Amino acid sequence: MQTWIPLWLPGETAHASAVDLLFIGLLASGGLVLLLLFALLLRFAIHYRAGNTDADRDHRIKKSWTWEVSWTAATLLAFLGLFVWGAQLYLNLQDAPKDALPVYVVAKQWMWKVQHLGGQREINELHMPLGSAVRLIMSSQDVIHSFFIPAFRIKRDVVPGATQTSWFRPRKPGVFHLFCAEYCGTDHSRMTGRIVVMEPAGFEQWLSRQDVTGTLAAQGGRLFRQFGCGGCHSSGATVRAPTLAGLYGKAVSLSDGSMEIADERFIRDAILKPRGKIAAGYEPLMPSYEGKMSEDELVQITAYIKALADPAEAPR
Ligand code: CUA
Repeated sequence: MQTWIPLWLPGETAHASAVDLLFIGLLASGGLVLLLLFALLLRFAIHYRAGNTDADRDHRIKKSWTWEVSWTAATLLAFLGLFVWGAQLYLNLQDAPKDALPVYVVAKQWMWKVQHLGGQREINELHMPLGSAVRLIMSSQDVIHSFFIPAFRIKRDVVPGATQTSWFRPRKPGVFHLFCAEYCGTDHSRMTGRIVVMEPAGFEQWLSRQDVTGTLAAQGGRLFRQFGCGGCHSSGATVRAPTLAGLYGKAVSLSDGSMEIADERFIRDAILKPRGKIAAGYEPLMPSYEGKMSEDELVQITAYIKALADPAEAPR
């Protein structure tokens, strides 16, 4: 992405450089307008000063449609251009590269809880290998928080009851600040952390040093049995419920006639608010698990359901 960005704008990620360039663009267009206004202001102030007898004060200015229309159109286009530029950067953050490592983040008062696919957990830290992109799948356990990494120019509000995603691919190893950028209570200012970008070999070592009770998907599998989900969602079940194998990433037809892609957001909503996500041709029998599953458990079950479709994330 954005390979044309000048070299003097390094940035910690390609996105960071792109945001910096947009900022320079905004500054430059703002500066140009400012310059034009002040130039005209000065010009008129000098020309129409009290002592200037050359100034033609009775001159009637004729309305010029050419000027009126072209000035309005030009500024409209220029500023719409800035909007398109910014919107494209924003939308790009929703579109993670296919090879990105999924990392689950749960925000709560007052910490960031991070879970890796291998089952590794950390608090207020996110370790990752250099060269990889990380795709964040974020939710909040209580109030609105905001996941903010200034060096990567990434800030995403994490709203309770919803799933937020974002991604980044650092260019250098290092340690970067993580902040909560939404006032979330007493210790909001202490809800900070670090993103640790390591050489791939060092990251592998770090992963193997962590205390793990099975992969995220395996932990999810245990919960799946514990909550009795298989009682309906399995081939031998007496209650007819849609099979979950191969669900992730597919388009699902819903009973209200709409279609949705079964991503993390969909799976989470289907567990918490099943009535809104009844698959076409099925009875609305599923109970809501709102308040019965913690955010951490939701993350694990989602990882399990994903793994049923994607062998790369399968329980090992
Ligand atoms: Cu969490 Cu501020």
